Amino acid sequence: MQGYEFRYGPQLISGPGAARRLVELLPEGRCLFVTDANVRGLGLADPVLAALPETIVFDAVEEDPSRETLMAAVAAGEGCVSVVGFGGGSPMDVAKLAAYLIATGEDLDTLWGVGKAQGRKLPLALVPTTAGTGSEATAVTVITVGGSEKRGVNSPALYADWAVLDAELTLSLPRHVTAATGIDAMVHAIEAYTSARLKNPMSDMFARKALRLISDNLLIACDRPDELEARGKMLLAAHLAGVAFANAPVAGVHALAYPLGGHFHVPHGLSNALMLTHVLSHNMEAARPLYAELGAMLDPTSRDIGQQGQAQAFVQHLARLSRAAGVPQKLSAVGIGPEHLDLLAAEAMKQERLLINNPCPITQADARRLYEAAL
Ligand SMILES: NC(=O)c1ccc[n+]([C@@H]2O[C@H](COP(=O)([O-])OP(=O)(O)OC[C@H]3O[C@@H](n4cnc5c(N)ncnc54)[C@H](O)[C@@H]3O)[C@@H](O)[C@H]2O)c1
Ligand SMILES: [Fe+2]
Repeated sequence: MQGYEFRYGPQLISGPGAARRLVELLPEGRCLFVTDANVRGLGLADPVLAALPETIVFDAVEEDPSRETLMAAVAAGEGCVSVVGFGGGSPMDVAKLAAYLIATGEDLDTLWGVGKAQGRKLPLALVPTTAGTGSEATAVTVITVGGSEKRGVNSPALYADWAVLDAELTLSLPRHVTAATGIDAMVHAIEAYTSARLKNPMSDMFARKALRLISDNLLIACDRPDELEARGKMLLAAHLAGVAFANAPVAGVHALAYPLGGHFHVPHGLSNALMLTHVLSHNMEAARPLYAELGAMLDPTSRDIGQQGQAQAFVQHLARLSRAAGVPQKLSAVGIGPEHLDLLAAEAMKQERLLINNPCPITQADARRLYEAAL
């Protein structure tokens, strides 16, 4: 039996309308409120903003936020005493790192990687409006640098103080975003469960519960978007998967997904969906017993078909779910062709922080082959 460590992250406040409680949580004084223009335009934050007395709203966060956007948020937040991230993973990630940089004044370039950020950030509340990234539960921020490279800052210093899960905020998600972000959460759960380095009984428990909830609720949330119950379960699942991968980090699927986002602006969840089954097939030899465990959990009737059958049935189940949710299945559907394979494979190798967690090695030649299979 091996020893392990586990962190839960922020204090959780959950329930319909929970976002309106932000005003009770934050310290008195000016608050930097980070969101995106679309979320702001939908009016989701209006009741919260009306209740917060002194707020600077920064709503210029784009999908896959850039370093320039982050630094603009930091400049806007000068003199603020707290930060709120309100939106999908993009605004939440900007808010996390802005809360750290405003408080410490440190140079971003000294923080990339694991455990480099050691200072103290401003009080931070994160309110997800997608059920996907679980960023409200993690110590990771992902920023696009130089126009195409996704870089991460991963340090306990970035954990939010409060994560507010308010499923009402996710009712307005269009189907394609519900589907893609739900698959992102699903990949977090799977990669945490099979993570080569830091997987442990606690992360396993969170990952299994998350996967169960997503398998049961993703299609309901897609087909009947107004069902608050299913929306709430997806939001919880994304959070639990976030807690899991904050402790047992994600791996090959994410490593191969990031270059699709960085170079071709494919949304993060969709990038993961496009690479999912290909990377899992590559990992099959090394991760078969774990995929079989997850397969048996999702389909108890598969008990008699043996480990190999269960593991394969698991991958097929994921592929079915992704198709039924309406997610594009081929790289060609997002404008990627054979001429891009070399670039993608070379870029994937830069994601060493993630590749080291994969159940088996992925070489540059493997990556090229996996992208080719996904064309
Ligand atoms: N920090 C982490 O742990 C972590 C984990 C995974 C991904 N990420 C990062 O998160 C980002 C992706 O986040 P995301 O998938 O949540 O997408 P996103 O934040 O980029 O949002 C996607 C789209 O959905 C819209 N949207 C958000 N909420 C909505 C709502 N309630 N109704 C209607 N539209 C809504 C947004 O305006 C945007 O157009 C990427 O940059 C990715 O790298 C971070
Ligand atoms: Fe992700």
